Amino acid sequence: MTRATTMSTLAVYPGSFDPLTNGHVDIILRGARLFDRIVVAILVNADKTPLFSKDERVDIARTVFRDHPNVEVDTFDGLLVDYVRRRGAQVIVRGLRAVSDFEFEFQMALMNRRLNERVETVFMMPAEQYTYISSRLIKEVASLGGGVHGLVPDLVEARLREKIPGR
Ligand code: PNS
Repeated sequence: MTRATTMSTLAVYPGSFDPLTNGHVDIILRGARLFDRIVVAILVNADKTPLFSKDERVDIARTVFRDHPNVEVDTFDGLLVDYVRRRGAQVIVRGLRAVSDFEFEFQMALMNRRLNERVETVFMMPAEQYTYISSRLIKEVASLGGGVHGLVPDLVEARLREKIPGR
């Protein structure tokens, strides 16, 4: 007798998300369509001083995805593969914007595979209009008074305005 097995796929989308951009949002929505559940895993890195605190980044992502029940927002520190194992996830999702992303992403994917060969990294491309956006550029442009409307969720735009007065 054959028995149908149903396996639900849990994906982890890790990153700093300082701040969340529309490029991230695009990848998360694509992942949410492809996998049963996707966890936006925000890295809490004690060495770095982010513009947005851990709680602010969690609050922003939870608010943006509040109507998406299969998108979860969590934080992690330490090795990504350890977090993925703890969560029982099978997939790491990363976005690839341009060839310039490839080298670092390739290194990370293979290192993560060496650390845990059961975890698969899946690369996804964002919509073309987001291929040049990065959190670093958003922060730089916003801090110098440039507009970032349409490049980040409205909530992030508003929070940037609060953080960087005089914009
Ligand atoms: O948003 P980012 O900065 O591109 O995300 C990088 C991130 C968080 C995915 C990466 O730095 C990471 O996985 N850090 C956790 C520590 C770790 O596992 N390092 C080894 C990676 S091969």
